[in-house]
Amino acid sequence: MTKPLKVIIIDDEKAIVEVTAEALERAGYECIEADSAKTGIKAITECRPDIVITDLVLKDGDGMDVLRHAKQTAPDCEVIVITGFATVESAVQAMQQGALHYLRKPLNLDELRTVVARTAERQKLARDNVALHAQLDQRFGLHGIIGNSPAIRHIFEALRHISPTNATVLVTGESGTGKELVAHAVHNNSHRKRGPFVTLNCTTLPEGLLESELFGHEKGAFTGAIATRKGRFEFADGGTLFLDEIGEISPATQAKLLRVIEERKITRIGSNETIDVDVRLIAATNRNLEKMVGEGLFRDDLFYRLKVVSIHMPPLREHAEDIPLLVDAFLKDLNEEYGKKIESIESEALSALEDYHWLGNVRELRNCLESIVVMNSTDRIGLADIPANIRTASAKTTRESDNLALANNERRLIAAALERADGNREKAARLLGISLRTLYRKLKTLDPARQHLTRTPRSK
Ligand SMILES: Nc1ncnc2c1ncn2[C@@H]1O[C@H](COP(=O)(O)OP(=O)(O)OP(=O)(O)O)[C@@H](O)[C@H]1O
Ligand SMILES: [Mg+2]
Repeated sequence: MTKPLKVIIIDDEKAIVEVTAEALERAGYECIEADSAKTGIKAITECRPDIVITDLVLKDGDGMDVLRHAKQTAPDCEVIVITGFATVESAVQAMQQGALHYLRKPLNLDELRTVVARTAERQKLARDNVALHAQLDQRFGLHGIIGNSPAIRHIFEALRHISPTNATVLVTGESGTGKELVAHAVHNNSHRKRGPFVTLNCTTLPEGLLESELFGHEKGAFTGAIATRKGRFEFADGGTLFLDEIGEISPATQAKLLRVIEERKITRIGSNETIDVDVRLIAATNRNLEKMVGEGLFRDDLFYRLKVVSIHMPPLREHAEDIPLLVDAFLKDLNEEYGKKIESIESEALSALEDYHWLGNVRELRNCLESIVVMNSTDRIGLADIPANIRTASAKTTRESDNLALANNERRLIAAALERADGNREKAARLLGISLRTLYRKLKTLDPARQHLTRTPRSK
């Protein structure tokens, strides 16, 4: 059963509050009564209501203030205002400030019930929508991309905007950050999703073969071309072509690719005939293409054609808060794959994973868990199960960052004391409750350069 919606009713006429509450309670709502602006505002803060019904004219204040407070403290809550004849204009004003409906006095209970039911319905829709989106994003909607950190939510948001268009997408990011997952997500969330998704990894083929893979060839076009073959562009017609490791293609192939993108036509090697293709391109690379353009290794015109929109996948160490979610999801998969029943991971073990720098990003994390799962014969993962190199590296980074944080705090305290003491060190030391010698020592270890700067110059 779903929880009843919470309604706060605010009116200084007690009878109105009581009658309203009774009618709504009978309709299944949970009601909280308040007879002044002050108690109403307090109740809003404490109870996080779904709906607020407030009179606009209250003895101790203005219903508009209640409205503003409600919208601020509980942004999802809806407000219905009650208004007398004289204040219809302020009701309009209230709607402009975010009230959803207004009810006129004297209250008609049928109208009240209808208006509240409509408000509740609207809220339920909004809530289901948010929950659904979050669930879809987290689990499957964006095709296996797991994460709930601001960095990954930003990617989801970008994908929602970019996917439905036909724009060419450039996906960048370090190795193992999920560039290929993103390419699939773009395709699967586009209107081409029923069309083919064709991948070509540009590193695995020598130059001549790469061109023939891309554009196809006619029989006899070169030695070994024993039959006519279609290229990946033709296979991807009506769908998406994903060119992985685009940074690796040669200048000659770059020039040909540029022409295809501009003309939307391909020519098979050894043919004079052009063939129209309807293909959306997604390219990915872990290299810095911009830098390669600067060094003359990548054509700038192709670069700009490819990065009509770009998505940059953050390294895992920049969204380490997603590690628990990733671990959870990977453990579920791996349990199934290896027929294991690992149900939990001890918090020290998880912390070690969270603190590690994961230069190989999500791929490295997944591989690490895979070997842990394979080796494990219990139902939980403890610190001892984490590979030693990860444990020690994590312990070291934690210690280093703790030390750094402490040092920064000391530095701030000392700077503040010196400022208050107008640079007088004896006074600053007194303010800090430490000896002058300690202050000197701290200044030296925390920031030697600065101590040098602030020392009074010796007169010649
Ligand atoms: N956010 C994520 N959620 C779930 N799995 C992820 C995520 N990011 C990466 N992975 C997984 O990590 C592995 C590497 O991802 P992917 O192949 O997409 O990386 P990549 O950026 O293309 O790497 P490379 O540059 O080495 O090709 C895959 O198993 C993928 O499923
Ligand atoms: Mg890849």
